[in-house]
Amino acid sequence: MDGLDKAAPRREEPSAGLSEWFLSASLRPESLFQGKLHVLDRVDSTNTRLKQLAAQGAPEGTLLLAEEQTGGRGTQDRRFHSPRGEGVYLSLLLRPQAPVSDLRTLTAWTAVAACRGIESACGAPVEIKWLNDIVLQGKKLCGILVEAPLPERGGRPDFVVIGIGVNLAQSPETFQQQGLDGLATSLAIEGYTTRRSQVALGLLQALERLYRDFPQKRTAYLEEYRRRCMTLGRRVSFLENGRVFTGTALQIENDFALSLLGGDGRPHRVSSGALRLI
Ligand code: BTN
Repeated sequence: MDGLDKAAPRREEPSAGLSEWFLSASLRPESLFQGKLHVLDRVDSTNTRLKQLAAQGAPEGTLLLAEEQTGGRGTQDRRFHSPRGEGVYLSLLLRPQAPVSDLRTLTAWTAVAACRGIESACGAPVEIKWLNDIVLQGKKLCGILVEAPLPERGGRPDFVVIGIGVNLAQSPETFQQQGLDGLATSLAIEGYTTRRSQVALGLLQALERLYRDFPQKRTAYLEEYRRRCMTLGRRVSFLENGRVFTGTALQIENDFALSLLGGDGRPHRVSSGALRLI
């Protein structure tokens, strides 16, 4: 694809860099991603770049991976630190025909897919912190940002961009410098050594399966989400209509919303936003 600042091509499976060649050769010939996978050397944000390409007509299945993001973005306008060579940063373009009510659940579906992808690559027993954080040993390992610009005329979005960032090689000092001491972790810190290409491949395979399953296999994803969700039974604080409440997380509802028993004794339901474990 023109206009992309691609990383230098690598023919051998790398120990350090991501490899377009390795990823393409490891995917099935009929994979949705064949011929549409691009490894960039440096980009502000793979999500931002892919949204631009989507608006210019890039096909479904276009995938951007980056060695480094200079302006990696998270939910709630937060920054996602993306140091060079230390993580997997990828975005996938889809043009799903499903109803908007199903599209709203894609973040939760992606959380299940990310867990499967990471586990298949290295065996790390990852869990989900509602709604879209993947945690290992109680600390954040991976973040998910799904963006689907709604058209002004209303109706279904023209495209959806699924962004995933996984911490692989960061040291405790890196997280200290980022102000994330005790909050974030990497596969290396927890003793899982694996290549970035291997984790990227695990994610691609899980995302391809997700797209085959979406939205028909909702029950299977919902059950797996519930099983992997470490938030249930925990005391949390959450925002409702701009006010902070505390409560206990009770269950994941059929639309992946979280129901809670508030400290005020009332039931609450949260369908978006972030929670804090307390
Ligand atoms: C979060 O933790 O709030 C979400 C983080 C999502 C990070 C990924 S990295 C690839 C893609 N590009 C971005 O700018 N963000 C997502």
